[in-house]
Amino acid sequence: MTGSWSSSDLHLDWDPGSGRRGLAEALRLAIRVGRLAPGTPLPSTRALAADLGIARGTVTRVYNDLAVEGYLRSRQGAPTRVAARTHTPAEPHEMPGPPTSAWFRDARWDLFPGRPDLSSFPRAAWASAARRTLHSMPARAFDYGDPAGPAVLREALARYLARSRGVLAEPDRIVVCGGYSQAITVLGHLFDEIAFEDPSLPEFREAAGRAGAKIVPVPVDDDGIVVSELDSPVAVATPAHQYPLGVTLAPERRSALAGWTAAGGLLIEDDYDGEFRFDRQPVGAVQSLAPDGIVYAGGVSKTLSPALRIGWLVLPRRLVGPVREVMFSLGWRTPVLDHLILADLLRSGAYDRHVRQRRTAYRRRRDRLLAALPPGFAPEGISAGLHLVLRVPDETAALRALRQRSVAVDHLSRYWSTSGPGGLVIGYATPAEHAFGPAVEALVDGLLRAVAP
Ligand SMILES: Cc1ncc(COP(=O)(O)O)c(C=O)c1O
Repeated sequence: MTGSWSSSDLHLDWDPGSGRRGLAEALRLAIRVGRLAPGTPLPSTRALAADLGIARGTVTRVYNDLAVEGYLRSRQGAPTRVAARTHTPAEPHEMPGPPTSAWFRDARWDLFPGRPDLSSFPRAAWASAARRTLHSMPARAFDYGDPAGPAVLREALARYLARSRGVLAEPDRIVVCGGYSQAITVLGHLFDEIAFEDPSLPEFREAAGRAGAKIVPVPVDDDGIVVSELDSPVAVATPAHQYPLGVTLAPERRSALAGWTAAGGLLIEDDYDGEFRFDRQPVGAVQSLAPDGIVYAGGVSKTLSPALRIGWLVLPRRLVGPVREVMFSLGWRTPVLDHLILADLLRSGAYDRHVRQRRTAYRRRRDRLLAALPPGFAPEGISAGLHLVLRVPDETAALRALRQRSVAVDHLSRYWSTSGPGGLVIGYATPAEHAFGPAVEALVDGLLRAVAP
């Protein structure tokens, strides 16, 4: 039997036999297709329960669930309303496979890895640096800039990278670029074959592959990239904090990598989150062991914001010209103003202060997340960075349960070039501070639902 509930001119088709789930789905559907517009007040739980002939507690739970998922907005003493910006997470039975990276934008709780706390961007420091820069920059600085980035930024970076990451960097070996995504594309144009860690982020493998490089997998174990398996002229590695597994390259492997470069190999060292080490002294860059055989890559996507699109390469001298040429031929022109502002932040010490403050905040978040995880879940890769990995018995079931709670995480299976175990890749940096606690609660709830018998 299908019941029909009328509120204003909305008809909610609902089968009483489908219970709480059915009612929730009918409401979600009405919101998704726009029959319940943002801001629409819903009947009180008492009125709706009476209309439908069901327990008031059932309606209350449905309203609560939909509020958590972002469909509804409830406030003490006011009617529950359809949320102004409704989230539209697909339901499990509509999900053909694991979520793609696009789905995290719709989720209420954003634990998708790869981004910092976006609300922590140092707006005031950036604004002061911008003001100082605009007041002091000469008119000629508004011209097309050096394709490698302004000298003042390269000088500031050379000092910062030497001090904070132990990188041997002279300014004329630095090329400032549009983030690692651009860097790996440019390097893909320069080299015929590049080995990538297995697992690694597929988007970067694909970018290098589209640029023309043959992509070859190289295994990773508990000590990091297995150097003895390297059989390509060029290899990418994430020594400080393997992405995604989170292991740190063991000391003997660091030496082995340096030895491999001495024998002619070229290493691309992706130091994407090297600033965020929690359990020991920061692990310095491998680059200092073999600066002529290693391309060091870093950027501000994890420290400040991925929206800035600023990264840098510290190159063996012979590669500076070719990298600049490829970038120029692909249409790269330097966003001089942003580069000058970043140089000011580095020189004034504001960048260091921000990184130190974020390190403390992220370590605290990691600790809160570890403390909240239910027994039986053993997180990995926790000593650094902004994410951790959780192995789960059934990746698809876990994703489904989390999606039901509108929690976005990434899934490990998509990172393998060959095949490997599934799991969840959980980023704990992105939610704003006030949303972190509820996000962790939703995560834990989803995990418990996933493993419930
Ligand atoms: C492994 C890894 N390297 C580098 C980056 C930075 O990329 P980009 O500089 O293009 O923002 C990321 C960002 O998610 C990453 O996950």
